Amino acid sequence: MSRANIGVVGLAVMGSNLARNLAGRPGNTVAIYNRSADKTHHLATAHPEAEFVTADTVEEFAQSLSTPRTAIIMVQAGPATDQVISQLADVFEPGDIIVDGGNAHFTDTIRREAELAARGLNFVGAGISGGEEGALNGPSIMPGGSAEAWNTLGPILESIAAVADGEPCVTHVGTDGAGHFVKMIHNGIEYADMQLIAEAYDLLRHAAGLSPQEIADVFRQWNTGVLESYLIDITAEVLGHVDATTGSPLVDVIVDQAGSKGTGVWTVQSAVGLGVPVTGIAEAVFARAISSSGASRRAGGGLPGPTPTDGKSGSAIGDAQGFIDMVEQALYASKIVAYSQGFDAISEAASEYNWSIDRGEIARIWRAGCIIRAQFLDRITEAYREQPELPLLLAAPYFHSALDDAQTPWRKVIQAGVETGIATPAFSSSLAYYDQIRRERLPACLIQGQRDFFGAHTYKRVDAEGAFHTDWSADR
Ligand code: ATR
Repeated sequence: MSRANIGVVGLAVMGSNLARNLAGRPGNTVAIYNRSADKTHHLATAHPEAEFVTADTVEEFAQSLSTPRTAIIMVQAGPATDQVISQLADVFEPGDIIVDGGNAHFTDTIRREAELAARGLNFVGAGISGGEEGALNGPSIMPGGSAEAWNTLGPILESIAAVADGEPCVTHVGTDGAGHFVKMIHNGIEYADMQLIAEAYDLLRHAAGLSPQEIADVFRQWNTGVLESYLIDITAEVLGHVDATTGSPLVDVIVDQAGSKGTGVWTVQSAVGLGVPVTGIAEAVFARAISSSGASRRAGGGLPGPTPTDGKSGSAIGDAQGFIDMVEQALYASKIVAYSQGFDAISEAASEYNWSIDRGEIARIWRAGCIIRAQFLDRITEAYREQPELPLLLAAPYFHSALDDAQTPWRKVIQAGVETGIATPAFSSSLAYYDQIRRERLPACLIQGQRDFFGAHTYKRVDAEGAFHTDWSADR
């Protein structure tokens, strides 16, 4: 009996929540299947209101779906995803649609799409952001795949996505791996945003000497301005939280070693391959690595340098409120750079992989349902709507003027960090990028001279066409 218009395979937390979200939208009947059938029946029993159609085998699952069959896979990335795809492909028919809603590497998605297309099946790699809560109540969804697949899948995904300003946070990102690429960049930007916020906290705590509670109030205040975002909001909550056991601020009880699941590393690896500087994201990934490098940190503990003095650095910071305002500006400027770099990576990948990606739409679908949701994304959408081929987000009029306002405090805050021994790798690398990108001439001229000296790699001249080589031995 084919009565479900959509199916979900893989019923761990994300899959179960997505299935419940789908079932709760008018017009959807949802088939569910999991390798271990007990999970399938447990979900159906726990949520009778969802009226799930349960299947104990992939064959039953295929029979329960109306055609073209549409199924969303929510299992671990890697070999498990390949296994499930292969099982579904064996029981599905040409024209059916298999969606991978996991965090696949975009190159795996490109490969899988090509393999399934050769069998007449549609394969869609869809980035789904927002964690368990988003899956249940409305995620931001970044699907790739063919236009044909989008025709069937689009309305279903629109029915479950988060909504911002009345519009669903989903769009057809581009063909094959475009959706998973954009999801990867989303995660990379999230790393940069979190690192920037952590640096702002470090400066306010250890240069300005504010308490976690006071910094929570600062973040609450910032959340009413240009920095308004989910991450700023939850940062205030985390900083304001008191540990029930010790009565200390919880942040002081948490071990200072940051973990990761690897999408930040993927972003940096891909960007290096594409030749796009994503320095803010890279510093964020490296900062997590430094925090977790126990042996190096233990060995480095005695090295000389200024020790952060918890607010006794008056000469470096001036008056506290003035410093707080400067850190807000520095955070905003650095954030603009990190996002601009992320969008550069999307642009470069789009030309490398032949994707037609509307960057304004990407900023729009990140406006709700995902971790980096923020008011500021509207400014990005506007910039790309005004100038769809905009070569550098930083140069759009709004950001140009924001950076003009912010750059003096940005420099002063970084100087305060240098003087007090508080590292600001993401703030500093963002400013370094900004100062390089706006320079008329860079010292790369010297590097070209060095390359020609030791390897006869040749150089170009500013006053003539062609490649030139100098006979360096003649000077020695
Ligand atoms: P979470 O992190 O939310 O727990 P996950 O680890 O990404 O989820 O995915 C776990 C899901 O993948 C489960 O539904 C699991 O099925 P079981 O309940 O039978 O363990 C499913 N899964 C993992 N490997 C699989 C495979 N090789 N074939 C089919 N399903 C698989």
